[in-house]
Amino acid sequence: MTHALRHRTEPRGAGGGRTPRAARPVDRPPHPLPRGPEPADDPLYGDDAALALYVLYELHYRGFAGVDDGWEWEPSLLALRRRLEEKFEARVLEEAGPGLPSTDVAAALYEITGSAGGPSLSSYVATQGTLAQVREFAIHRSAYQLKEADPHTWAIPRLTGAVKAAMIEIQADEYGDGVERDMHQTLFGVTMRALGLDVRYGAYVDVLPGATLATVNLVSFFGLHRRWRGALVGHLAVFEMTSVEPMGRYSLAMRRLGYGPVARHFYEVHVVADAHHEQVAANQLAASLAAQDPRMAADILLGARAIMAVEGNFSGNLLAAWTAGRTALLRPVEALGVAAVA
Ligand SMILES: [Fe+2]
Ligand SMILES: [Fe+2]
Repeated sequence: MTHALRHRTEPRGAGGGRTPRAARPVDRPPHPLPRGPEPADDPLYGDDAALALYVLYELHYRGFAGVDDGWEWEPSLLALRRRLEEKFEARVLEEAGPGLPSTDVAAALYEITGSAGGPSLSSYVATQGTLAQVREFAIHRSAYQLKEADPHTWAIPRLTGAVKAAMIEIQADEYGDGVERDMHQTLFGVTMRALGLDVRYGAYVDVLPGATLATVNLVSFFGLHRRWRGALVGHLAVFEMTSVEPMGRYSLAMRRLGYGPVARHFYEVHVVADAHHEQVAANQLAASLAAQDPRMAADILLGARAIMAVEGNFSGNLLAAWTAGRTALLRPVEALGVAAVA
């Protein structure tokens, strides 16, 4: 199924219909689909499994050109999603590993973020990343950054009181306080454009490996399931707490390669904003949620360990490819037909 999906993930706004395609079930109005073959690779990091889940999740975001919005709630697709998610969840729990119970959630979060193992991707990019690698990095991250903050927004109706207010404070910044130009999603597009990349939403999904898609699937999974709201909060907390230094390094890399303030703005904004967000996320958000409902503490820390593991795998995948002199994309950047503009 998913080999075919690689050719079926044409995103909304990416020139849908420019090539003739064989008739597909999703071109017709929603209807029950028969059960077909399912991905056989790793449910978390496998290229096929991750793409299948990514595509199913995308129906809950912006969907696909020419695909009826009603497919989002078609029971046979939801049943497929559930089967994939059961295996995905088991692998996430395995990757996150067991955690010690903690009554001081903020301290436990700092301990988790401080325990990152393996070489640093951002340090590599800052000191020796080539233009091709900086562009490739942006392509990988585009899967999330062009919808930055959207999956965490699903937490808002599920939180109450001061915890909800803290979530909204962070999210408001992520959405540029309601100014489109300042939305972090928009700013990432500016950086991509400066790098000569295709900024259309979903343009690169077909070339992203499972290790990259897993970083987005993780937060979509936590975001779409209310029962994982604690993990979603832990995910956001770690996201904010591990941002400042890497974002500064990515900005440094772009400066070294001759890019000016406009191109670097996305990274620079995060250096400033996330110095504040990390405090809000650790204390007013995560620790307050655990104080409000002590049963949430374990899930918050599970979400934190899960993002650390999945991001560690993402970084390791890129570094392994780059140090071996190849790309971590499924097809080389050069083959995508885009040119860098300084
Ligand atoms: Fe942001
Ligand atoms: Fe932030």
